[in-house]
Amino acid sequence: MGVTVRAPAKINLVLSVGPLRDDGYHPLDTIYQAISLYDDVTVTDAEEWSVEVTSADVDVTDVPLDERNLALRAGRLLADHHGLDRAAKVSVTKGIPVAGGMAGGSADAAATLVALDRLWELHTPDREMLALAAQLGSDVPFALVGGTARGGGRGELVTSVPDESSLWWVVVPGAEGLSTPEVYAEFDVAPGSDAGAPAPGWETPDLADIVRALRNDLEPAALRLRPELAETRDALHAAGARAVLLSGSGPTYLGLAADRHDAHDILDRLVRRGVSDVRIATGPVAGAHVVEYV
Ligand code: C5P
Repeated sequence: MGVTVRAPAKINLVLSVGPLRDDGYHPLDTIYQAISLYDDVTVTDAEEWSVEVTSADVDVTDVPLDERNLALRAGRLLADHHGLDRAAKVSVTKGIPVAGGMAGGSADAAATLVALDRLWELHTPDREMLALAAQLGSDVPFALVGGTARGGGRGELVTSVPDESSLWWVVVPGAEGLSTPEVYAEFDVAPGSDAGAPAPGWETPDLADIVRALRNDLEPAALRLRPELAETRDALHAAGARAVLLSGSGPTYLGLAADRHDAHDILDRLVRRGVSDVRIATGPVAGAHVVEYV
């Protein structure tokens, strides 16, 4: 008996970052959106904890398979929370680029919580699931909730935003990952004069509103660490993206398209310019959800 749960990548439509707190985190005011790139996590009962990670289209060589693996930590945390002496095999099929600023590890953790909750019939209340998720990482609660949501605190305090729009994104993952703590540390060196400005309200805005509002306070820091990312940004503009935005702490860049055809046109132009890894995704999509009982 096993359960497979699918969890989405996240992007930050607005990522407003305040000054470093005493606990080593930064206060955020962010508008999250879950987009249609997914990791699938299958859990089965086992004598010992283990994790395996495979992918058809994502480089998974940098995913840790030891105690640092966030899915494994999620599984153990849920078992401990319920006082259970049980273990599971966790199999992750990745479709979310690794270390791309799209919270792939957080998606795996959220999916593992939901999958084991079902496999072991624990019926953990939502409030407890969100608290466990927050212990695992700032982005994990959002991976449970999905859709479009406002994030406060260090990102872990998530409130859904009514959003009936459907956005088309052209996603350029970037060849080499960036470390989130390094990007935040670089942000601290020179935060930028308008960093930390509050995110605007976000209830089914139109495309023009969104284009105006998109913002990422971490983008200058990521560009200082990885100046060649400016080429990706400029290529997306030149290919006709309505707006261009760094995803989270990067290096993934996002181009906003007007619709499906526009997204495919932008992708074609990027490919012709030699950008090799480009994907199309829509948002918002659901948070971690069961897709199969096997
Ligand atoms: O919460 P999470 O473990 O995903 O955070 C990883 C790292 O990113 C933190 O250790 C911290 O350096 C940085 N971070 C931050 N402020 C946040 C979220 C993350 O400085 N709001």
